[in-house]
Amino acid sequence: MNTISQARGVERLVRGQDTQDGAGVRLTRVLSNDLQQRLDPFLMLDAFGSDKPDDYIAGFPNHPHRGFETVTYMIAGRMRHRDSGGHEGLLQNGGVQWMTAGRGLVHSEMPEQEEGAMEGFQLWLNLPAKNKMCEPWYRDIQSADIPEFTTASQVLVRVIAGTTHGVSGAVTREQTEPLYLDMHFPAHEGVVLEQEIPSTHHAFLYVYRGGLDVVARDVQTAVPAKRMAILSNGGNCVVLRGQAGTRAILIAGKPLHEPIAQYGPFVMNTREELAQAVDDFRAGLMG
Ligand code: FE2
Repeated sequence: MNTISQARGVERLVRGQDTQDGAGVRLTRVLSNDLQQRLDPFLMLDAFGSDKPDDYIAGFPNHPHRGFETVTYMIAGRMRHRDSGGHEGLLQNGGVQWMTAGRGLVHSEMPEQEEGAMEGFQLWLNLPAKNKMCEPWYRDIQSADIPEFTTASQVLVRVIAGTTHGVSGAVTREQTEPLYLDMHFPAHEGVVLEQEIPSTHHAFLYVYRGGLDVVARDVQTAVPAKRMAILSNGGNCVVLRGQAGTRAILIAGKPLHEPIAQYGPFVMNTREELAQAVDDFRAGLMG
């Protein structure tokens, strides 16, 4: 197989926008509204990382969601989740929380630490129209329960979602087939990882330590820390060459090609459905 001829290149680098959410948590919105069509089925990616308590201590008090899934990956720190479905869990160092909002719930995400570093990501994954009003679902996945494998070139890959190299991730989804990997390159320079990506999928990666090159047939593109690289469509893999100690997440999913209507924490297909979501929330129907 001539892998490189099928390798995806970088279509665009994105810096993200510094913003605040919740009760004043500082974060970087890497995947913002203007990229929702391009990166369908993904709606949002926030990166947070600070060792200053003032940047995170206010947390995310009670707020609703409807019509999609939230996937929170905690690299460092401790966050307590509670929701109106009666779920409660402590999300910490290396763990993942996967929440399907479905027809709606109210939840809070509050730091359970007063000092030290808090670092991680929250990804929003859309639901197909036929599942937007499904029963809410929730799962806490502790770090030790996230499947991992190590490549021959000594890259450690944690499989948060999807199936790759014969390893099935912590969560799989039928229609959007999300692939969510956290890749840890070893402590020496220039190690190469060839990672398969289904050619049907939209894909992007985000470097959170170090830096890497995306190597395609005719061009290689340097991706520094704190940048998202949107990968070109169509190829069946990506070839990455990491600097020493580089860490990056790779996210891919099969587009839904359905209309996206968003109002804050509600993501539906039409404006009428959004108005219904607001009414239902005000009427206390989301818990
Ligand atoms: Fe939330």
